[in-house]
Amino acid sequence: MNKFIPKKNAAHQKQLQKCPTGIKGFDEITEGGLPKNRTTLVSGGAGSGKTLLGLDFLINGVIQFKEPGVFMSFEETEDELYTDVASLNLDLQGLVSRKKILIEHVRLEKKDIQETDFNLEGLFVRLEQAIDSIGAKRVVLDSIESIFAGITDVGILRLEIKRLFRWLKEKQVTAIVTGEPIQERYTRNGLEQYISDCIILLDNRVKEQIAIRRIRVIKYRGSKHGTNEYPFVIDKEGLSVIPITSAGLDQPGTPQKVSTGIPSLDKLFKGGKPGYTRGSTVLASGTASTGKTSLAAAFAVASCKRGKRCLSYLMKNRQGNSFKI
Ligand SMILES: Nc1ncnc2c1ncn2[C@@H]1O[C@H](COP(=O)(O)OP(=O)(O)OP(=O)(O)O)[C@@H](O)[C@H]1O
Ligand SMILES: [Mg+2]
Repeated sequence: MNKFIPKKNAAHQKQLQKCPTGIKGFDEITEGGLPKNRTTLVSGGAGSGKTLLGLDFLINGVIQFKEPGVFMSFEETEDELYTDVASLNLDLQGLVSRKKILIEHVRLEKKDIQETDFNLEGLFVRLEQAIDSIGAKRVVLDSIESIFAGITDVGILRLEIKRLFRWLKEKQVTAIVTGEPIQERYTRNGLEQYISDCIILLDNRVKEQIAIRRIRVIKYRGSKHGTNEYPFVIDKEGLSVIPITSAGLDQPGTPQKVSTGIPSLDKLFKGGKPGYTRGSTVLASGTASTGKTSLAAAFAVASCKRGKRCLSYLMKNRQGNSFKI
């Protein structure tokens, strides 16, 4: 027996199940969404879109996949979250009143956290009640960093949060926790080491006075995913990721060729007829006086000689140099 024949069925059965987010483009770069019944860390700086991504995930979950969700907020109150999405076409308030989404605002007092026998048991109880009361399948915890505010000994808290992630897994919900990156880390308190399944990084970068939002899948255990940074936008419909690589460079090529107008150059093109491929765009690049314009002119002249029409643009750039296409 050939030992290199892949065991198709066995591999197929083991594949990680995915939970679609319904966020345009995101399910494409993750090949189906977030890891189902696992926890994903969404890390990003201030205003990078973490909260909106979490809300979009829950709202789409209800509308498109009939999965109720719990949004546990450690920062913003329910009213503040409604204000956040007021400029978007997302009916958060409607879904909350229909008990499809439950917003749980947790105000953590310093004194609660600083006790020596501190644990997150109270949080577990509230979360469990919230999940069970609406049969939630999706959970967002925004942001996990807030739990650390004012804590000097983070050791116990880290262990408690590790326990929280394990608990979420056992509870069979697909969860997002948000965090803020710092230097080489994806959370301020190094929690990423406890999230083994999926990490997503959001970024809002300004280059030459233009801000561009970007998203990148840092890791996704057990799954293939797009590895590039993808631009994304926040508009009235919520978040949309633009997966450039799948923008459709999949049209079939053609064997038809068009003469360059220079017989000796035609001969350099290998395969089939000599010349440029019909329908393609050719970039002629070179320093000053190397013959770019002459190359383009030869092509235009040859076309006209064949009785074809040729459109030639003359463009000027800011330095006053001219070039033709
Ligand atoms: N209607 C809208 N159209 C376009 N962009 C919007 C709209 N509403 C909000 N935004 C953008 O979304 C950003 C807020 O996103 P969000 O609150 O999700 O960020 P965050 O990462 O949670 O921030 P923080 O770290 O402060 O909690 C705003 O700063 C704004 O740039
Ligand atoms: Mg936020």
